[in-house]
Amino acid sequence: VEKSVSLDEIKSALSKMLNLIRFNHTIAVSETALVLADRFGADRDKAYLAALLHDCARGLDVAQTLKYCEEHGLVLDEHMKKDFNPVHALVGADMAARRFGICDKDVLTAIGNHAVGGENMTLLDKIIFVADAIEPNRTGSDVYEARDAAERDLDKAMILALRIKTRYINSQEELMHPSSIRMLEKLRRV
Ligand SMILES: [Fe+2]
Ligand SMILES: [Fe+2]
Repeated sequence: VEKSVSLDEIKSALSKMLNLIRFNHTIAVSETALVLADRFGADRDKAYLAALLHDCARGLDVAQTLKYCEEHGLVLDEHMKKDFNPVHALVGADMAARRFGICDKDVLTAIGNHAVGGENMTLLDKIIFVADAIEPNRTGSDVYEARDAAERDLDKAMILALRIKTRYINSQEELMHPSSIRMLEKLRRV
C-alpha cells in the first residue's frame, strides 16, 4: 500500500524544490500526459503522477546529484559520466520512491526512462517521454512536428521527441546514450 502523499502535497513540495520555469514545465507535462493517456488508452492517474514527478530531481545541482547517487547506491553507467543530463531521471525515480513514497513500479519506471528512454518502453513510458518533449511551453519546428505526430502516432512522436531531447548534444549519435540508440532502432523497425 502506498504512503498517501496527496497530489497537492507533491505539487507544493515541487514548487519549493524546482525553479519556476521547471515547475511550470512539470505542470504542463502533467497536463499533456493526461491528454496523451486519454488518447492512447493509458492509466491517467499513473500518467499524471509520473509526469508530475518526472523532473523532481532537477532542483539538485551536479554536486548534490552525485552526493545523492553515492548515498543511495545509484550507479552511473559509463555514458552518464560523459553526459550527466540523464542522471536526473535515475535520481528522480529514486526520489519519487523514497521521498514521495511512490511504490508503483510503472510510475517509477516511466520517471527513470524519461531522459534517454530504453529498449522496452511501455505505453506509459512513451507517454511521459513524449509529453516531456511536446508540452505547450516548448517551441521550435521539431516540437511542432512531434506534437503533430502525437495526435495519432505515438511511436513516430517518440522518434521526434528523442530528437528534441538530444538537441543539446552537438555530435548526436556519438554522445547519444546507448539505450536511446537501441530504442531508436526498435522504433524505426515498427
Ligand atoms: Fe527531465
Ligand atoms: Fe522534463
